[in-house]
Amino acid sequence: MPDIQKDKILILDFGSQYTQLIARRIREIGVFSELVPFDVDFEYIKKFNPKGLILSGGPDTVTNTGSARVNRKVFELDIPILGICYGMQIMSVQLGGDAKSASKHEYGFARINVDYSSSKLLGHIVKNNNDKSLDVWMSHGIEVSTVPDGFELVASSENCEIAAIEHSEKNFFGLQFHPEVTHTVKGKEILERFIDICDCEKEWTVKNIVNNTISNLKTTLGDKKVLLGLSGGVDSSVVAALLHKAVGDQLTCIFVDNGLLRLNEGDQVMETFSKNMGVKVIRANAQEKFYSALSKESDPEAKRKIIGRCFIEVFDNEAKKLKDINFLAQGTIYPDVIESAGSKTGKAKVIKSHHNVGGLPEDLNFELVEPLRELFKDEVRNIGIELGVPHEMLFRHPFPGPGLGVRILGQVKEEYADILRYADNIFMDELYKADLYHKVGQAFAVFLPVKSVGVTGDERRYDYVISLRAVETIDFMTARWARLPYDFLDIVSNRIINEIKRVSRVVYDISGKPPATIEWE
Ligand code: XMP
Repeated sequence: MPDIQKDKILILDFGSQYTQLIARRIREIGVFSELVPFDVDFEYIKKFNPKGLILSGGPDTVTNTGSARVNRKVFELDIPILGICYGMQIMSVQLGGDAKSASKHEYGFARINVDYSSSKLLGHIVKNNNDKSLDVWMSHGIEVSTVPDGFELVASSENCEIAAIEHSEKNFFGLQFHPEVTHTVKGKEILERFIDICDCEKEWTVKNIVNNTISNLKTTLGDKKVLLGLSGGVDSSVVAALLHKAVGDQLTCIFVDNGLLRLNEGDQVMETFSKNMGVKVIRANAQEKFYSALSKESDPEAKRKIIGRCFIEVFDNEAKKLKDINFLAQGTIYPDVIESAGSKTGKAKVIKSHHNVGGLPEDLNFELVEPLRELFKDEVRNIGIELGVPHEMLFRHPFPGPGLGVRILGQVKEEYADILRYADNIFMDELYKADLYHKVGQAFAVFLPVKSVGVTGDERRYDYVISLRAVETIDFMTARWARLPYDFLDIVSNRIINEIKRVSRVVYDISGKPPATIEWE
């Protein structure tokens, strides 16, 4: 079996919003890459033994005293180094060059002209000697003003004279633009060229990752039993598929139905895993327990806590019935790991992961296995496809741990949950039919426990309100309300009011994030 981590790239993170993207691009090219805070111990870097280093961009200002720097020893490792944006600026400044505030700040598209014949990194990427331009994505207010000794200037743009530099003997490269974003037209080729200069073999492929993970799981678990909390979400579903493939019947999953799931979701999870894939799944029907615990609470945070606590109790209770379990599997993925790490000096901005409920009991005496710990979400999805996890499950919009509990405003009741499930299902059904489901980042219905007047035939009725929410977002940290066509909204609204008795009015949420959050609670 190939060693999928033999040749690898280490990214020192200075806190740019694009850093994770660099790691994902390198992996898409077929080489394992890890992301660590820029001030990680030098010993860690040496032990990691990368074939190349990337210094990311970041929000700091290189000309300010006390701004972030890399440990100088990295320049003596004798491996290729690529500095991107802030990474290029510190490489220049630390190696004897200089930087200054740019006369014109550049954000967005820029056309650079490349020195075709001399650039080792970019030379083969521009078309030919007659067309030496590249369209790239810039985002900076500072630029390199003096190229350090031994470096050559290899590209300039109209507003940025020193847009790319390189030291061709040492294989040090600096790019003022971002090759990792798709707006940089040949960005991936540039990164691939860097990978080739690093002399990396490209073994990081979906098939290899699957085979390797399964083989590692077999070694770790041996003939021991493993338990998994299956939620039907992408991560736990892929973990279930991997474990089932690795150790078959040694895996038991517990699926907690909390009564706050989407329409038919519980049955679908059972059908997929238990019936079709033959995974041992225990379905804990705990709807009543959740409804009763929530019955007197309307505060959103208190509701989240109740849902989290009930989940642990139900899971714990089911787990205790099982004998001889040694391992507990979890669907932790790489962004969770990175986001909880952060830099020592706190300089690299750490994006907060969401307060997740549905965590597992800490006092269960199991050893942890986290087979997705090194993987990004898109890699997890690709593994899921490879293992035959249904497409709808892998590409479904995110669904919060507390489920409909945070989409029923205030007090949660079974009656409300049922109304909401139907409304949400109609909305999703129409989104799929209109081919809009995958064009929005997240969409759902919200139940508002207020009554509004409606007229059916000659009768006046006072019934509940459903709000529809659909957002376009990349990272869920900011979001724009989706401009769904009026005719489409009209169809959804009519269907919800006509098909669900207790709803008299449908509204569409036109709030952006910020200031509004995506969920209503
Ligand atoms: P907000 O509402 O904060 O949501 O804009 C951002 C993303 O996080 C999801 N979300 C949650 N996920 N537990 C979760 O697992 C939660 O308590 C929770 N609250 C919000 C939300 O659906 C969106 O994708």
